[in-house]
Amino acid sequence: MMLKPDPHIIAHRGMSGLYPESTLRSFEEALKLDGVHGIECDVRLTRDGRLVVHHDPFINRTSDGAGRIAKMDFEHIRTFNFGTKEDPQQIMLLDELLDLLEDYPDKHIYIETKHPTRYGPEVDEQTVRTLWYRGMKEDPRVHLISFSHTAMRYFKQVVPDLETFYLFRLREMKWNKNNTMFSRPYGVGPALAHLRSKQELLGYRGLKTYTWTVNLPKDMLWCREKGVDAFATDLPHLAVDVFREHPITPVSAG
Ligand code: G3P
Ligand code: CA
Repeated sequence: MMLKPDPHIIAHRGMSGLYPESTLRSFEEALKLDGVHGIECDVRLTRDGRLVVHHDPFINRTSDGAGRIAKMDFEHIRTFNFGTKEDPQQIMLLDELLDLLEDYPDKHIYIETKHPTRYGPEVDEQTVRTLWYRGMKEDPRVHLISFSHTAMRYFKQVVPDLETFYLFRLREMKWNKNNTMFSRPYGVGPALAHLRSKQELLGYRGLKTYTWTVNLPKDMLWCREKGVDAFATDLPHLAVDVFREHPITPVSAG
């Protein structure tokens, strides 16, 4: 029997199952964990053009403030608490998250650019500019992910050395019957439920497979069994434990 390697464990919005998502605390706790490959984060632009780490377009769910990020200035968003009362946290700039990553040179980052409803390329351009000025445009620890073919194509053009994952949606199989990979990503990233229901997406067109969000031990082991290359999880510590408790190589007695 061929033994499959463990998939890379990627902490989704940091260790977001235990700490407030997308905060310094959440990312730092994930980065400290042995066995974790890296962190996943979402980036958005503020009204004044700053690239912040946040999933939702609004800050209502994750902070004690309210409003749409694209319509607020960074210094204003910075005044709100994204952590807890006991452990207050501020919204982070992508630059600050990359500063943190410098302390963990063996860890990777998967940056997802989030686009406003009316698609604009600014968030992709700003992300690339940030990486470029930091000397990270060829850094093998940086991976770019997106639901947008346009973003993927842009990344391929301007930062061809960075690995990209296209977050594949099932509905694409309806309008794209020939399964053309328009943007030529390095890998595809369907949601776990889609991957389980359409297993032809595993190693789709010979590309790497990334999936999200894998929070149950049985799904983590399923990913390994099916040869998934990487998965994002809110519970990276659990994934580390699961693979430790179920090693791929037989453990010799004594
Ligand atoms: O890692 C990909 C995944 O994060 C995409 O979905 O909504 O959590 O950004 P979402
Ligand atoms: Ca994301």
